[in-house]
Formats: sequence, C-alpha cells, structure tokens
Amino acid sequence: MKRIGVLTSGGDCSGMNACLRAVVRTALFRKKEVIGIIRGYEGLINGEFKPLGSRDVSGIVNLGGTILKTARSKRFLTKEGRRRAYKALKENNIEGLIVIGGDGSFRGADVFGKEFKFPVIGIPATIDNDIVGTDLTLGADTAVNVALDCIDKIRDTATSLERIFVIEVMGRDCGYIALETALAGGCEEVVIPEKSYDIDKMCDRIVEGNLRGKISWIIVVAEGAGKAEDIARKINKKTSLEVRITVLGHIQRGGRPTLKDRILGAKFGNFAVELLLQGKRGVCVGIQSEKLVTTSFKSAIDNKKWLDTGSYFRLIKILT
Ligand code: F6P
Repeated sequence: MKRIGVLTSGGDCSGMNACLRAVVRTALFRKKEVIGIIRGYEGLINGEFKPLGSRDVSGIVNLGGTILKTARSKRFLTKEGRRRAYKALKENNIEGLIVIGGDGSFRGADVFGKEFKFPVIGIPATIDNDIVGTDLTLGADTAVNVALDCIDKIRDTATSLERIFVIEVMGRDCGYIALETALAGGCEEVVIPEKSYDIDKMCDRIVEGNLRGKISWIIVVAEGAGKAEDIARKINKKTSLEVRITVLGHIQRGGRPTLKDRILGAKFGNFAVELLLQGKRGVCVGIQSEKLVTTSFKSAIDNKKWLDTGSYFRLIKILT
C-alpha cells in the first residue's frame, strides 16, 4: 500500500485534528502518501482530495473541529453514491481508507468496505461515547469537561438566587454526557434515555428539599430523554416553583481538546495506520483498560454500548 486516504465524517468533535495529525505523520514516517478527503463521504463522492504533507498538519494538535471539514452524507447511503466514491478512490490510486467518525460513519464504512472489498479502518470519534469496543471515543472527554464547566457556572447563579435549573446536554441515544456531568457537577437529578423517570417523585424530592432549606436544584437531562423546556414546565406546574433552563447544545462539540483527547487522537491515529499497513480491514480501533484493541465494524454498530447507569444513580443519590 503506497497511498492512503483519510476523512472525518458526521458530527465533529475535539481531538479530530490531533488524530488527523497522527495519521498523516505516522503514514509519512512509514514512507506512505496521505490524501485528505474534504467534507467526509460527500467529498469522497465528489473527489475533493488534497495531498497532506507534514506541514499541512502542523499547529492543529490544539484545535477543536476538523481542518478536513465534515458532513452527514445522504448520498453515501445510496449504492450509486458509494460507487462514485469507489471510482474516485481508484482514480486517485488510494488503496486504503481511514474514517474518523461515529456510528453512522462506521455503518457507511462497513457497507462500503464489503461492497467493494476496500480496506477501511475506523477511528471512533463522537462526543456521545456510544460506540461498542472502546472505553472512550475521541471527543467525549473534551465534551464532558466543556459541559461541566458550564454546569459549574450555572451553579453559581442557581445557588445565589436559590433557583431550580434544568440543563439539557447532548446525547441522542446515550446518557453518558448527562451521567458524567451530573455526578461530577454535584447535580441533584439526571434524566437519560436509558432509564424512565418519574416526574412526580422528582417534584416530591424538590419540595421535600425545599422544606429542609435546600432551595437550589440542578437537573441534568440528556437531549434523547426529553426537552429541558418540557421538564421545567412540568416541575413548575406541580410545585409552583420558578424553574430556569439552559440548553448547552453545540458548545459541547467545540473547544481545545483536553490532554486525554489529544493522547487518544495520537494513539488511535498511529494504530489505525499501522493496522492498515498490516493488511487489516473492516475494523475500528478502540481502547480498553489502556490497551489498544480492534472491533469489527459489525459488532461496533450492531450492539448497544453498556453503561453502568446504576452506579451513577446510586452515587448521585448518596452524594447530593
Ligand atoms: O452525535 C453527536 C451529536 O453531537 C449528538 O449528541 C447530537 O444529537 C447530534 O450530534 C447533533 O447533530 P447535528 O450537529 O447534526 O445537529
């Protein structure tokens, strides 16, 4: 293999640039050429290619987002889109592909790799940390730290004005960000997609807390479990207490990558190139108990990642 392609796909996250740098510099160290594909699978279909040298990835290790840009491609879901992508790779003599993205991107990589017998290695990158086969995905550590910083700031005003706040964090199908930040932020309640919640009981706890003199209350809700606005309205209706909301939104996807995400980016990027050069394909990289591992795309996307929700709830209950 002489030339490899690399793209970032789906929702961006901090650490993608650090990872790209590691891919490019490892490949150059191995005397291989690297082609950066702009705008994920969309750029692959359109043939938006850019040769990447060592200098092209200098000064990016500390930058959020992705210098390759990213996209959610509908065309890659079609056979015709994938056929055009394959043609573009062949025409540019690209013999292997590294996809840095989340579960949707891996689904595309799996189908594409099998359809055209093309070597693809995935690097799990999503703030949701919802990919099976790795303890942590790239970008999740920065996202929880960004969200935690916001929660700390909201706590200042919540405590001062003795108010109830409902804070909505990201997490379409997964409560990872909500659980981590609720526990680390000393929040009283957490609502996640993996577990049903009882609004009446939550309101009882708030009212009992009020009687004990505990007036301010922070409830973290993962977007996949409900809207902060709806929960706030219900609490206000049942308790007549004033409730404020904050939706953190895309703030969680940006910012300087944490040390952990830079290290993860370096390890994942380096490992993915080595695997491709060893002839591996159809797998994504991961880290388990500090060891680099691989998982087939199929297992990574077909299974739901297990999250020890019980421990978080138990600790939050004891500690608040
Ligand atoms: O998958 C990462 C993620 O940030 C989710 O937490 C969120 O639901 C989604 O992406 C938002 O996607 P978009 O930026 O396309 O609205």
